[in-house]
Amino acid sequence: MSKVNISEAVHYIGCDDHDIDLFESQYLVPDGVSYNSYLIVDEKIAIMDTVDARVTEQWLANLEQEMEHRFPGRQPDYLVVSHLEPDHAANIQRVCEKYPELKVVSNAKTFAMLPQFFTLDFSARKVEVREGDTLSLGSHTLHFYLAPMVHWPEVMVTYESAEKILFSADGFGKFGTLDTQEDWDDEARRYYINIVGKYGAPVQALLKKAAALDIRTICPLHGPVLKENLAHYLEKYDIWSSYRPEDEGVTIAYASIHGNTAAAAKELAALLKEKGQEVFLFDLARDDMAKAIEDAFRYDRLVLAAATYDGGLFPCMADFLYHLKLKNFQKRTIGILENGSWAPMAGKLMKEYVEGFKDCVTAEPTVTIKSTLNAASREQLEQLALALAK
Ligand code: FEO
Repeated sequence: MSKVNISEAVHYIGCDDHDIDLFESQYLVPDGVSYNSYLIVDEKIAIMDTVDARVTEQWLANLEQEMEHRFPGRQPDYLVVSHLEPDHAANIQRVCEKYPELKVVSNAKTFAMLPQFFTLDFSARKVEVREGDTLSLGSHTLHFYLAPMVHWPEVMVTYESAEKILFSADGFGKFGTLDTQEDWDDEARRYYINIVGKYGAPVQALLKKAAALDIRTICPLHGPVLKENLAHYLEKYDIWSSYRPEDEGVTIAYASIHGNTAAAAKELAALLKEKGQEVFLFDLARDDMAKAIEDAFRYDRLVLAAATYDGGLFPCMADFLYHLKLKNFQKRTIGILENGSWAPMAGKLMKEYVEGFKDCVTAEPTVTIKSTLNAASREQLEQLALALAK
């Protein structure tokens, strides 16, 4: 168990997963991920969420170690379920079977969905809470706030008022195990944009509820416990969930078959750099798609550069645009560069996507390359660089 010091009464019992290849079967996590779980020990003992099935035995050992070595003879009274997604909820039935008196605390949506995941009859254990309800553990009191669609409909967060701790479910989570030494921002952004990014409005609603609370510590379900400079994390969440660009810069995402579209994208990058712009290039066929999506959201300008393929878009660009649409991409300036040796179609198809994004402006002209750059397309490239430069 990673050493996480929260307080005398609040203990970390979560697990690092260094071996997972793809989180949610799609996201590269070179530094793994943590599934956080906490124990609040008072006159009553509450477990705050379980963990992924990949680390069940380790989590049960962490729980047993805390219970038997530090609180011998006692049993946990409550399991608070913030989120039913299996990376946190996989062990609900298992822990209930281990502790027959354990009560399950959550909201109506959770209890409606529980039978979809488990065969155990939870009716005798059910403690159903609603918005603003409280549960006293002794000197600690849990306050429950519903947070629907941050990231599933049943999500709720819990505020513990004695120590002013927000148990924030997926909110403020990050990729990377707890023993990974890195700044929070990059992997928290990649996590947020790709996993919760579609749900900006619900996150804004949750931030409004959080603004009314005096929060000293944030305990998320992934990544480090946050104790210092909480305004920094709250500000990042406000930017991300309102879809405002975070920084000035141009993300260039290219989908190239034989390298000619890539060469044009790199030439555009060089022109923009000459004009003093920050540029971030992604080869969509090879680079981490989630990172490319993260940077498309992070910076204020985006260039889509793709070859035509079978009369359509080269597939990795179609995949990229599909992801941007899913994540509610908006409020950016977008340049388009297409390639097609005999019947270029990529530009038209990318424009159709862009027209579907809210509040996006197209930078002119569209650059059309027939196979390789020539004097005419280089002139278009220069014009596009001028239009994109600030
Ligand atoms: Fe970490 Fe939405 O689960």
